[in-house]
Amino acid sequence: MKFIEKPELGPYMTFQPDKRRPIFNWFYYKEAFSSHLVSQLIKEFEMSGPVLDPFVGAGTVPLECKYEGIVSIGRDASPLAVLVSTVKCRNYDDVFITQASATCDKMLSSIGKEKGRGGYEWGLELFSPEKAFPRRNIEAITSLRSQIEEIEDMRLREFMLVALISILPQVSYVLKDGGVLKIMENKRAGDAKALFRKKVKMMLRDLRGYGVAYDEPNIEVGSAKHLNLQDNSVNGIITSPPYLNNVDYTKVYGMELGLLGKVQGIKEIREGMVRSFIGRNGSHIKMEADYVYEKLAAHIGTPPLIAYAYFTDMLKVIEECHRVMRSGAVCAMVVGNAVLQRLNIECDTILAEMAEDFGMESEVWVGSVRHADVPVKGKLPVRESAIIIKKI
Ligand SMILES: C[S@@+](CC[C@H](N)C(=O)[O-])C[C@H]1O[C@@H](n2cnc3c(N)ncnc32)[C@H](O)[C@@H]1O
Repeated sequence: MKFIEKPELGPYMTFQPDKRRPIFNWFYYKEAFSSHLVSQLIKEFEMSGPVLDPFVGAGTVPLECKYEGIVSIGRDASPLAVLVSTVKCRNYDDVFITQASATCDKMLSSIGKEKGRGGYEWGLELFSPEKAFPRRNIEAITSLRSQIEEIEDMRLREFMLVALISILPQVSYVLKDGGVLKIMENKRAGDAKALFRKKVKMMLRDLRGYGVAYDEPNIEVGSAKHLNLQDNSVNGIITSPPYLNNVDYTKVYGMELGLLGKVQGIKEIREGMVRSFIGRNGSHIKMEADYVYEKLAAHIGTPPLIAYAYFTDMLKVIEECHRVMRSGAVCAMVVGNAVLQRLNIECDTILAEMAEDFGMESEVWVGSVRHADVPVKGKLPVRESAIIIKKI
């Protein structure tokens, strides 16, 4: 397996560069990569459509494909990711923009005209809205949310919903700190009404200045472990699965999922995720002396339970990617290595080897290396890389 240093791509394996790019920045998805990486991969491997992202997240791949005139497909286990990606990738015309601007003004002027919580029952899994938001914001958010529910035009409804959920972190006392949410009583929570107006106006300005019309991608809720796509049907894959880092997306985005009305279904969504974290149910996972166990044992000795579960899921993902790619197609998968229980787990190497065991060719593009302090062992190099696997 060849390792190729690509430090020029390292910064684009993060969301940072796209934080200022119109439309790409409509929703802050910390785990996203940036569009320049997608365009470089499309160019390097001369990808034509359809290009698939089985972990579509905030829609970086389908949106960049749209700008490049390439048909694309996205799947994600989270309905939040699917909503955000879909709204970012739609075609909007001038009539829509005018209508959305008027709707926003009308919604804002209707706040407070209902009683109490604006008629919307906002449930959160981890804490009550009263703990996480100032009262004035709860009233504004629930009023806007119930008004959104009444909008008949689905495109307008979803557009407003993305505007509203995207301001939640700013208007709350919640701090997203790595994989956990912390309530900080001394945090300044912005004004929900003002920030909602600002957000909608900004989104509409982006559409006027940077909107692009091309085939809308096909984006659906689904699992990368069982893709509802035909064999040999995609011409390229660009993706990034959850990293082996204990981040539970349903917790980190719990406020947003709650406002989508998904609290009841959150357990089911969590269970559909690649197991990059182990919740209270970790005790159900049993290790067997199978292919994954042997592979991990060869690299790190007896694997931590979470690593065994993660690679068992990722094996299914690689199998599915192999199945849906036509021969000659390339899959670029951005992954981070991990240090767990003082073990340096080289996810890039292990996943690339698994792909080779399916008969694919592989190489690893190393974007960046950070050095983790590990007791007794000292500093261990932790890579973030794109594994490039080609179906022969
Ligand atoms: C690293 S993020 C992808 C970010 C994306 N590349 C972007 O630029 O926005 C990983 C995504 O995988 C999703 N996910 C986790 N398990 C999944 C599964 N089994 N099938 C599909 N998506 C899954 C999460 O909801 C999350 O959106």
